[in-house]
Amino acid sequence: MSLALLVTGANGQLGSDLIEVVRTGTDVFARGLTRKDLDVTDAFGVQDMVVGWERIVRSDNPDHRLVVVNCTAYTAVDAAEADEETAFAVNAAGPALLATACAKAGARLIHVSTDYVFPGDSDRPYDVDDETGPRSAYGRTKLAGELAVREILPAGSHVVRTAWVYGATGQNFVKTMVRLERERETVSVVDDQRGSPTWSRDLAAGLLALAGSDVPAGTLHATNRGDTTWHGFTKAIFEELGADPDRVLPTTSDAFPRPAPRPAYSVLSPRAWDEAGLPPLQDWRAALAEAFRTRGDAFRA
Ligand SMILES: NC(=O)c1ccc[n+]([C@@H]2O[C@H](COP(=O)([O-])OP(=O)(O)OC[C@H]3O[C@@H](n4cnc5c(N)ncnc54)[C@H](OP(=O)(O)O)[C@@H]3O)[C@@H](O)[C@H]2O)c1
Repeated sequence: MSLALLVTGANGQLGSDLIEVVRTGTDVFARGLTRKDLDVTDAFGVQDMVVGWERIVRSDNPDHRLVVVNCTAYTAVDAAEADEETAFAVNAAGPALLATACAKAGARLIHVSTDYVFPGDSDRPYDVDDETGPRSAYGRTKLAGELAVREILPAGSHVVRTAWVYGATGQNFVKTMVRLERERETVSVVDDQRGSPTWSRDLAAGLLALAGSDVPAGTLHATNRGDTTWHGFTKAIFEELGADPDRVLPTTSDAFPRPAPRPAYSVLSPRAWDEAGLPPLQDWRAALAEAFRTRGDAFRA
């Protein structure tokens, strides 16, 4: 069956990589929507866009499988504490509108969510059906988005949680550390938060595989494999830069108070992803090396 994708948030880290992965390696019919093309909080806009896209795609080939991939988010975790209303509009109301429009258009929806829906105090990887309990406004709004998508489109949706995403587009932790390596002799980075750094390009390839699969609706976790701390991640970034990793010093979260609490433990279990027969994402360290090998220009810019 041929596949048609409608990708929201196409200017973001994940959305831009998804469009690139589709266009460079497949004949999938994909349309990317930036915020200018579609504000996901605009009820009429969402409805018109999804239904209009469905008509165009079906007029070309009535057998296309239609999948909307929602890569939009209000990702400013600290700003969300003081502006939960806007975060809710993008992270919860927007996905609900997309799910409603998908139901009307006969499209499936892949909705991307986050490790922040969990409390972050576990001592083993979080599984898809573990109890949620967000500790931040961002996490609460993302959880509300998950619940809305599942309720509106129970048989036609996938909620895919990921974590610690970095990519060639936009600002992220990797780019910040590359800049700090240039500017400072030593960099102190927290060693008491554990998670799985995830290259948006690998996640995009995983989502494309999911879109083309017959995996039943439900919740999945997709991150690069293995885990580390922000300190370990930064040492690896320094290694990729050819810099001395001993210039990265460990510190604790207490030294960097932030408006939104950060989960101490964010590792997501890939069990459901693996049992669904989806291709595993590579180890986080190998992914970082490949990211620098293939897109080093963007990370060093
Ligand atoms: N980044 C992470 O570390 C991380 C961790 C866990 C989960 N996630 C999840 O992964 C997904 C992708 O994240 P990302 O890192 O690619 O995020 P990102 O780079 O911040 O991209 C998000 C995109 O959403 C767009 N957007 C925001 N509000 C919108 C609106 N009202 N209508 C339409 N578009 C809107 C933004 O547009 P502008 O470019 O115009 O602002 C941006 O292009 C999200 O669901 C996020 O919650 C991310």
